[in-house]
Amino acid sequence: MGQAATTILGIETSCDETAAAIVRRHADGRAEILANMVRSQFDEHKAFGGVVPEIAARSHVQYMDHIVAQALDTAQLGFEDLDGVAATAGPGLIGGVLVGLTSAKAMAYAHNLPLLAINHLEGHALTPRLTDGMAFPYLLLLVSGGHSQFVLVKGVGQYERWGTTIDDALGEAFDKVAKMLDLGMPGGPLVEEWAKRGDASRFAFPKPLLKEKRLDFSFSGLKTAVRLAAEKAAPLNDQDVADICASFQQTILKILDNRCRLALARFQEEFPEHHPRFVVAGGVAANKAIGQLLKDLAAEYYAEMVVPPIKLCTDNGAMIAWAGIERFNLGERDGPDFQARPRWPLDDADMALAAKGDAV
Ligand code: KG4
Ligand code: ZN
Repeated sequence: MGQAATTILGIETSCDETAAAIVRRHADGRAEILANMVRSQFDEHKAFGGVVPEIAARSHVQYMDHIVAQALDTAQLGFEDLDGVAATAGPGLIGGVLVGLTSAKAMAYAHNLPLLAINHLEGHALTPRLTDGMAFPYLLLLVSGGHSQFVLVKGVGQYERWGTTIDDALGEAFDKVAKMLDLGMPGGPLVEEWAKRGDASRFAFPKPLLKEKRLDFSFSGLKTAVRLAAEKAAPLNDQDVADICASFQQTILKILDNRCRLALARFQEEFPEHHPRFVVAGGVAANKAIGQLLKDLAAEYYAEMVVPPIKLCTDNGAMIAWAGIERFNLGERDGPDFQARPRWPLDDADMALAAKGDAV
């Protein structure tokens, strides 16, 4: 006898997307996304050149009920058809997290449903199981606007962070370069577009930490080097801008190539009994040049590779609903007293650092 089907509503509000989704895990293990609504706040923040936390939180309040109603409507379900309500409880912008988590608590209470408080990073980490039924263990490279990390995913709730950025996230570095060059928003895709027309060999930018064996990243020195090069070459014509973007992206490719090789080799060492399993998630995975590099690397290491579709790589409610399903099926439930956590690293060793107040 298999497990009964599980249907969960997932809510995500940790940054600038108000998202709600309904995901079902069928009795045979098949996952189905019944609704996946995402409302981006892009236009509300555009004029400020970045996400304004207070505006984000207000906007989540304004649209939350509507997005949840849309999700139920699309799935043609009512609350009585659900097995639970899952919501991001951190890490993220605390105002937004509070809106999503508090709404989820209220819905769970009102409809007598269990609550699942989900770590946003766990949502990203478990997505390849939603999309491709990926087996444990696997190596996750998460590269988004807020995170750049390697995580060994051993099981639900069993994560080992192998490396992280010691300053900016990779997407953030793309966004800051775009801002410096006045390219507009969203930064990452625009830098990629400009890079296509540029000469990647014109500028030699630094590649911090590459001489070290640790699996961490650092992008702030690179960002400063880009700024200095731009100032030196000013006033910039279109070719200068394209060359800077191409040189910057090329440097990123070299950094990723180096780090991923180390991480894949470590996976091979720790799990010699099977080929590496490699998952890439986060908005930066949308970059075609980066995607191609990672694909080539995976082939070289005979790795089974999954890159979830971009809609599920960037922030969404389906990943939160799925993480809720995985936890629900393990018998986990959270109480109405669960506190939102602005910082919430995935693994316990990092949690100890967070408690001490160190950056994680
Ligand atoms: O995962 P995501 O949608 O949101 C979070 O940060 O949680 O990632 C967004 C980030 C942004 O920094 C954006 O500039 C970057 O991903 N990004 C890209 C590309 N598309 C999105 N970076 C480089 N090249 C791209 N094509
Ligand atoms: Zn995210």
